[in-house]
Amino acid sequence: MSSARPRVSVEDRRRFLRATSLGFAAIALGCRGAPPNIEAPSGNDTATGAPKPTTGASTSAGDPPELVAGDATAECRDTDDNIEGPYFKPKSPLRADLVESGMKGVRLTLRGRVLGTGCGVVLAGAVVDFWQADAAGAYFDDKFRGHQIVQPDGTYELHTVIPGHYLNGEQYRPAHVHVKVKAPGHPLLTTQLYFDGDPYNSIDPFIKKSLIMPLASAADGAKKARFDFVLA
Ligand SMILES: [Fe+2]
Repeated sequence: MSSARPRVSVEDRRRFLRATSLGFAAIALGCRGAPPNIEAPSGNDTATGAPKPTTGASTSAGDPPELVAGDATAECRDTDDNIEGPYFKPKSPLRADLVESGMKGVRLTLRGRVLGTGCGVVLAGAVVDFWQADAAGAYFDDKFRGHQIVQPDGTYELHTVIPGHYLNGEQYRPAHVHVKVKAPGHPLLTTQLYFDGDPYNSIDPFIKKSLIMPLASAADGAKKARFDFVLA
């Protein structure tokens, strides 16, 4: 890690944790060490970054459920890939709700659609497979993992918590949710979703701007986010 990389102040981190209501318990738990370079680049970044013309994402695919702030497909383009990282496990359980009794963290509902290139078709029956750290930034083999089948209208809905920060070498990674999206006739998409306002977004070496989601608040203090996947 370069020592010249800009640092995030403790106050910046606290501000984000307060905004996501994780509190100081998560700060303390998240400050333990981690093996260096636990998410090395895969060397498989094929994203071109070239935006495609806007095609009117919702016209033929139908309105997505409960639109929240922001729209990841405002410019309909293939979703950027992102590194897999070391914690993917095959054969995750079939479940859309990753929260089990006693789990801590701010509840997050993530909704969206899976669309074909051009956003003109919904990919019903596609598989979205999520995995993430818990609210304290720790990964487990049997927690916070689950895949689901995309509904006939192209939608998916994940119930989880805001993931915590964890150290990658000398610096924290921004909060993120890992996902693989698989549909017949399309290349497998492996990517990560990030959250707007995270103080580590600006210094993370892996993040891509197109994968950052706005967070909206629900009345009960939970958070909502929206992301539409567009497969090549
Ligand atoms: Fe990760």
